[in-house]
Formats: sequence, C-alpha cells, structure tokens
Amino acid sequence: MRQVITPKRLRLAVLASGRGSNFLAIHAASEKGQLDADLCLLLSDQAAAPALDRARQLGIKAVHIDPRTYTNRDDYETEVVRHLQAENIDMVVLAGYMRLVGRVMLGAFPDRVLNIHPALLPSFAGLHAQRQAVDYGVKYSGCTVHFVDQGMDTGPIIKQAVVPVEDDDSEDSLAQRILVQEHQLYWQVLQLLAEGRVYIEGRKVHII
Ligand code: GRF
Repeated sequence: MRQVITPKRLRLAVLASGRGSNFLAIHAASEKGQLDADLCLLLSDQAAAPALDRARQLGIKAVHIDPRTYTNRDDYETEVVRHLQAENIDMVVLAGYMRLVGRVMLGAFPDRVLNIHPALLPSFAGLHAQRQAVDYGVKYSGCTVHFVDQGMDTGPIIKQAVVPVEDDDSEDSLAQRILVQEHQLYWQVLQLLAEGRVYIEGRKVHII
C-alpha cells in the first residue's frame, strides 16, 4: 500500500476543455480555506473554452495548448508537462478535459492525475454519462473521482457521490443535480490528498 502524497499544501493545475464550473468550485473551496491547495494553472486544449476566461478573471494563469499543432500525442503532452513542471504542480485535476491522457503525462505525474466523471463508475463510462443513465433506467447515478490511467474512465476510484434518478429526469435535469455533487466531491477528495490520507493498493484506494 503506498501513500499518494504526504501532507502538504497542494499546488494544483486544472485541465479543462469547456465551461469550467468544477474549476470554479475548487477555486472557491481554496479561497474559503476549506481546501489546503492553491490553484496555480488552468490549461485547456480548446482556445474557446470558457474556463480560460474564468481563470484569467480570477488572476490565475491560463494557458491554451493546441494539440493540432503537434504531430502526435507524446509531443503535445510533453509541452503540457513542461507547463505543469514549470509551476511545480503536485496534482493534475482533469475537469471536463475531453482527451485521453497518455504515457507522457502519466509518466511525469504517476498517481498524480485525477478525473471526475458524472456517473457511478464503472457504469456509464465515456461520453454522455447522464444520458446513458437516464436511457438505461437506473434508479441511482452520481459522480466519481478517480485516478487516471491510460483507459477511458478506468482508474482506481477514490470517492463517489450518489444521486437518485427521478422518473421524469431528462439528461439535463439529472446532469444539473449531479453537478451540485461534483462541486463538493472534487475539493473534498483534494483535501483528503492534501492531508496525506489517500493510499493505493492495486485497484483499491484507502482513505485513512
Ligand atoms: C462535468 O460534468 C464532469 O463530470 C465531466 O465534464 C463536466 C465538466 O463540467 N467530466 P465543467 O467544465 O467543470 O463545468
């Protein structure tokens, strides 16, 4: 069993492709003193991502790196890692980052890349998780924070929050209620990491 990180104030980078509401929730928790972490960098693969503007408005360094200008994923991720290392980042926080992470980033940040997924994994991995849950007819869905490996939403699960699915839920109504939970779950997991309470043993994550 290995401890992921010893207790410390974390330096965080958020990687986002879109809106950035999870980024804002993590920032708010840090500002309120609920989370012993500093949000040091917002990095996006999309020039038009609203998350970039939101970071700039808060005075947080915001960087766009266009994957299309690199010949392959390794080269793109090498540039991403260069920015992360320049800011001495402890944990890389994916929040609506619409790309699979590859060996370069995972090699540079072993056990240091997290993701949030809007379903109770391993159910409904991939895109449109909330629509998948509504269409399948499950009675409960929710969200999952997990370590990232090279698969799609397959890494060891750290914590989950359950959200009941109502009979008349649409994809949007369920997504909205799950998002409320996401905005609590992510910073709470980050705080457990900052306190040095997270251990990994194979696929299992222990909170001690
Ligand atoms: C969230 O629902 C997250 O679970 C999923 O993408 C969405 C990102 O939302 N991975 P936001 O950009 O943080 O608002």
